[in-house]
Amino acid sequence: MDAIAVPAGGGAPALTTMERPTPGPDEALVRVLRVGIDGTDHEILSGEHGEPPAGADRLVLGHEAVGVVAHSNAAGLSPGTVVVPMVRRPPPSGSNQYFERGEPDMAPSGAYVERGIVGAHGYCSSYFTSPAEYLVELPETLAEFGFLVEPASITEKALEHALTTRSAFEWEPESALVLGNGSLGLLSTAMIAQRCDRVYCLGRRDRPDPTIDIIERLGATYIDSRETALAEIPRAYEPMDLVYEATGYAPHAFETIEALAPNGVGALVGVPGDHAFEIDGGDLHRALVMENKALVGSVNSGRPHFERAIETLSSLPDWLFDALVTTVAPVESFADAFVNTDETIKTAIEFETP
Ligand code: NAP
Ligand code: BGC
Ligand code: ZN
Repeated sequence: MDAIAVPAGGGAPALTTMERPTPGPDEALVRVLRVGIDGTDHEILSGEHGEPPAGADRLVLGHEAVGVVAHSNAAGLSPGTVVVPMVRRPPPSGSNQYFERGEPDMAPSGAYVERGIVGAHGYCSSYFTSPAEYLVELPETLAEFGFLVEPASITEKALEHALTTRSAFEWEPESALVLGNGSLGLLSTAMIAQRCDRVYCLGRRDRPDPTIDIIERLGATYIDSRETALAEIPRAYEPMDLVYEATGYAPHAFETIEALAPNGVGALVGVPGDHAFEIDGGDLHRALVMENKALVGSVNSGRPHFERAIETLSSLPDWLFDALVTTVAPVESFADAFVNTDETIKTAIEFETP
């Protein structure tokens, strides 16, 4: 079968031929339809993140997949069912309390592998196998854009964790700011616009730009980070009840505190590279304490977040998917899915037409 793999330590992705996997007794065989590519895949190519399975010299990419059950040894999944696989699996040393509780997303480093990212092959292949407990059923109507479920689940988890920190008192977010107009930032802007009256999205692009068009079509306001620093946003626009950080630009994580309204919360999902910089720690510490602010980091997602993401995606307008997904590359032209132009937002590789 076809597979797209990257050498250990990073490099160009290559199309290779691998043997089709045989499902174990509790596993289903899944035929892959499409696999989305995100910032993390680019970090793997550049060698900043990622690791092949133990003993392998390359990693099959892909953690945002949608496929169809081809053969089910696993109870409860009929052939033909459209599914999205979760990312984390137990480490080679065996299962642990996080997996047993159904909370793989809360496992610390070393207590999991991530398919297509760290220690396990991903889903960029014609077929993959998986225990049914890591496959989430999807309505057929979402098959075409089902690779957006995993990124949407990242946002569902981060929002759940952030909003839960505000559950001890009467609080409803009305204003929200998303930092970053990459594919995750834009998808999150759409998701947050369903909950908050006023939504802003920060980028660093000149008009005309397709991401700004999406932001405005969602009824949100575009803020250019080159014109307005985060600390100025409360005066220039308004203080934000909720901030969602999806740039991976480390200073923004801390500047978020200055953009927040009293009692507000910042959810941090962007993953920075090495980045040392100076901040006024005293000012930020004071603002956190004296204004009851919170910052919450969040990584990965569990089954409830995938299920909620499916509901949320079902309620988003069709035009958004068409605008967000700028490239669907057939497997023979998979390299197109790794090209970034001014027009590129979200790309995917197609193994089989949904
Ligand atoms: P992406 O495509 O690289 O998007 C990042 C966006 O942030 C880009 O559009 C970039 O703008 C913008 N940006 C960067 N620095 C900025 C600045 N100083 N001011 C304004 N905008 C800035 O990545 P993605 O796939 O959307 O993912 C977003 C982040 O989330 C990444 O760091 C990724 O690693 C992380 N992530 C985390 C999780 C998790 O579980 N925590 C899951 C998925 C992704 P330009 O395009 O104009 O350069
Ligand atoms: C994936 C998450 C993963 C994280 C860290 C993200 O791109 O979507 O599932 O936990 O990277 O590796
Ligand atoms: Zn991802």
